[in-house]
Amino acid sequence: MHLPILTYMSTILPVASGKGGTGKTVLSGNLGVALARKGKKTILIDLDLGGANLHTCLGIRNDRPGIGDYIYKHVQSLSEIIYNTPVQNLFFIPGDVLLPGTANLDYGTKKKIIRNIQNLDADYIILDLGSGTSFNIIDFFLISPAGIIVTTTETTAILNAYSFLKTVIFRMLYRSFPSKSEERKMIYSFITNRIEGKSISFHDLINTILYINPGSGTTAMETFKKIFPKMVINMGTSNSDIEIGGKLKIIVRQNLGLKIHYIGYLPRSKEITLSIIQRQPVYMLSPGSLFSKSINNLAEKVISDGLIPPPVLYESDEDLEELREQINLK
Ligand SMILES: Nc1ncnc2c1ncn2[C@@H]1O[C@H](COP(=O)(O)OP(=O)(O)OP(=O)(O)O)[C@@H](O)[C@H]1O
Ligand SMILES: [Mg+2]
Repeated sequence: MHLPILTYMSTILPVASGKGGTGKTVLSGNLGVALARKGKKTILIDLDLGGANLHTCLGIRNDRPGIGDYIYKHVQSLSEIIYNTPVQNLFFIPGDVLLPGTANLDYGTKKKIIRNIQNLDADYIILDLGSGTSFNIIDFFLISPAGIIVTTTETTAILNAYSFLKTVIFRMLYRSFPSKSEERKMIYSFITNRIEGKSISFHDLINTILYINPGSGTTAMETFKKIFPKMVINMGTSNSDIEIGGKLKIIVRQNLGLKIHYIGYLPRSKEITLSIIQRQPVYMLSPGSLFSKSINNLAEKVISDGLIPPPVLYESDEDLEELREQINLK
């Protein structure tokens, strides 16, 4: 069994959400610009396969090879499709706009993309992911222990963010153990046999594993402690919206036993529409706006968090491909 060999040089920031349209792309683009403007070499990667549109936020034309070309083997390495942007220190890897239809990545290609990302050289690598809880998206999210989840204040978006976190925990615990292991079977059966309507207690699961095999239980517990996702509330309109992040943090801690880091709040901003029309990130177009100031705060939080080493997980193997169809954690 091979554990992945990881390099810890770059801080990788996957940006995800349960629900679509919460602002992942707007956040990824503007956070990338903010980090670059602070002198950090930053690579933005459009990993929303099937829905790539990060270039529109940056004012970059979509006429160059991107991830689609890598998937279809027209280029051998991601380093061949990294482009300069108008912003110093900011680089961009386009998505699959020119070669769409790659949303259902096969397992081997996903693994190759992840390895290639881990070998890129930058201070920050931001991954603009697609929405939802497919295992491809979750595995991209789990490249880092401290990916960013973006939600709006809408109830459905918050519930979807919560479901996203549950799937992340499940997947992470599952990948803490080798393929075909008893522990994987136990975790799978725990998830699929839970009583309908009852919230999943990962604590109970870990206690069960501990009881059956103390060594494995400790492994599960240690893995659990190593993940610390960041949360951003976007498109807020009132002061009470700011507090939603804090409340969600408490609920996640109480119900799922997971610590999340609420790094901030982005206001609903009319400058966003203007920035898309003008093909310039808000952070450049309206640096004095409340939105840009909030992005600036997020960038400072990201920098002060430093580099957190990721949990070492086993590869997801063929048995997970079968599970993908069967499991619905919502
Ligand atoms: N803070 C904001 N204020 C106003 N409009 C916003 C804000 N954030 C995002 N938007 C708008 O909301 C829409 C969705 O944003 P965006 O495309 O960034 O979301 P997404 O999560 O990347 O969507 P998808 O799931 O489709 O990839 C866009 O029209 C964007 O301009
Ligand atoms: Mg998007």
